[in-house]
This record gives sequence, C-alpha cells and structure tokens, in this order.
Amino acid sequence: MIWSLQAAPDLSDRQFDLWSKLLEERAGICLGDAQRIFLQTQISMRMRELGQSDYTQYYNRVIDGVSGMMEWSVLIDRLVVKETSFFRHLPSVNYVQEYLQHKINNSELDSSFEIWSVGCSSGEEPYTLSMVMNETFELARLEPYFGIIASDISRAALAIARAGIYPKRKVEMVDAPIRQRYFKAIEKGRYQISPEVVDRVCFNQANVLNINEFPSIELDVIFCQNLLIYFRRELRHEIMDAFVERLKPGGILICGLGEVVDWTNKEISRIAVGGVQVYVRKTAQ
Ligand SMILES: C[S@@+](CC[C@H](N)C(=O)[O-])C[C@H]1O[C@@H](n2cnc3c(N)ncnc32)[C@H](O)[C@@H]1O
Repeated sequence: MIWSLQAAPDLSDRQFDLWSKLLEERAGICLGDAQRIFLQTQISMRMRELGQSDYTQYYNRVIDGVSGMMEWSVLIDRLVVKETSFFRHLPSVNYVQEYLQHKINNSELDSSFEIWSVGCSSGEEPYTLSMVMNETFELARLEPYFGIIASDISRAALAIARAGIYPKRKVEMVDAPIRQRYFKAIEKGRYQISPEVVDRVCFNQANVLNINEFPSIELDVIFCQNLLIYFRRELRHEIMDAFVERLKPGGILICGLGEVVDWTNKEISRIAVGGVQVYVRKTAQ
C-alpha cells in the first residue's frame, strides 16, 4: 500500500518526547499527553505531503541547518492554536479604550499612543484595538495618533492578517455600527477592513521567546491574550518581566484572565478590575 493511503504510524514515547521538547525549546509551547494525537496528526500530515514515512528521519530534517529552519516554519504553522475573533475579550478591549480616554481627558498624551499585540494570530485582535482607538480619537475630535505593533510566530496567520480580508461568519459577530463603518463587503461573501484601521497596524513575524533581542521600544499598552497559557509557569513569568521593561512608566499590561498567577515584579502593580487581568508599570516617585 502506498504511504498516502496508510494510517499514520503511532509516535513512540521516545519520539513524542523528542518532538514535544523541540516544540517547547523553540516556541515555548508545552504539550501534555492529551495533545499527543494532535501532534502525531499534524506531523504525519506534513510528512505525507513530503512523501516521508519515518518520524525520526523527518525530525532530523527539521533540525538540519537552514533548510531545516524553513521546514520548521512550515510545521510550526500547523502546531500552534490560532483561534481568535474580533472583540474576543470585550472587558479587556474596553479597558484599553478607557485607559486612552483617561489620557485624553487629562491631556496626558504627549507622544503617539503605542500598543503591542503579542500573539496576534490572523489580525482580529490588533484590528479590534485599531478600530476602538480610532473611534476614541475621533470622538475626542483629535487626529488619530496611535500605532499598533502586532507579532506572531506563524507566517500563515500573518499572511491573513496583512491581507485584512475576513469571511462573513467572523464579521457578522461585530456590532453593526463598527461593522458598517470599518468593513466593506467584497466578492464571495468576504469583507475587507478599511485602510484607516489597517494602516495603523504593523505586523511582524517574531517569536516571543526572543523578546530580549527585540528593539527596546516604549509602549503604552502590551496586550497578550491566549498565548502564555501554552507556556510553563516559569517561562510565563520571564516573559512578563521582559514585557515590563518595554512599558512606559504608567503603561499597562493586559493578559488573559488567569493566564498568569503568582507573578510579581517590583515595578508593577496589579489593578483590581473585575474580569480583566491588568498590571500597571509604576511611575517614578
Ligand atoms: C490562540 S492564538 C491567540 C490570538 C489572540 N491573541 C487572541 O487572544 O484572540 C495564539 C497565537 O500565539 C501564537 N504563538 C504561539 N507561540 C508563539 C511564540 N512563541 N511567539 C509568538 N507567537 C506565538 C500562535 O501562532 C497563535 O497565533
């Protein structure tokens, strides 16, 4: 029987160990036994495309030099969870809106308002923030003066994000006034996001594990949701510490509810707001 018609062979314990260690080392993602079938399916599907039938040979190919890195970038697209939606966690989005509004009301905006969406997937999260920021500036009759950096490890997700085109099922969940203002129906039941929203977002392919190599920029908001949950506790804490160094004094860090527990940092205070996990960088006394 030819390989493409055969059921995928089972990953042995040793192979599962090797692959999950590689995934954790390179992307931080920690798989439990429950994801074993998922890992096996994704790897074997890719092997099938390449006409390969041996997990060890494919593993050696993935860790081999420059061509291995290229293969890795294809494989990692299949191994990450990219689920996302517009306005996914409304209380967190509202918090960013209120934070900007407060700065406007108190004339505290001296330079551009800068946001970083970390693990942005196919763009729904940074575009949500861009729409909300635009609305807030407009309501205050101010020129929109903000920028959003949006990063993800997955090139496939970023390609969708950069195109800014989404199927109807994703767009119809957005409230009518925002939908009518910022989405234009195009062919085949798809919608294109308006340029005023797209132009504010700069997408880049980046692995958050390399955060210490990122340029030191000063941000007002770091928005990181549904990414750290895949990492071990110590790694979550290390990344949160690195986030702090990139916040302006008074800047805020918002992660998903319950994604980070028992983390402290002497430069940070946790703000008690129901339904939102938010930290603020202390300002100098
Ligand atoms: C579940 S999605 C979350 C998307 C969005 N933040 C949200 O909450 O809707 C997680 C995203 O994190 C990305 N990701 C996983 N590991 C990463 C890493 N080491 N560095 C950067 N992005 C990563 C995945 O590619 C995926 O797009």
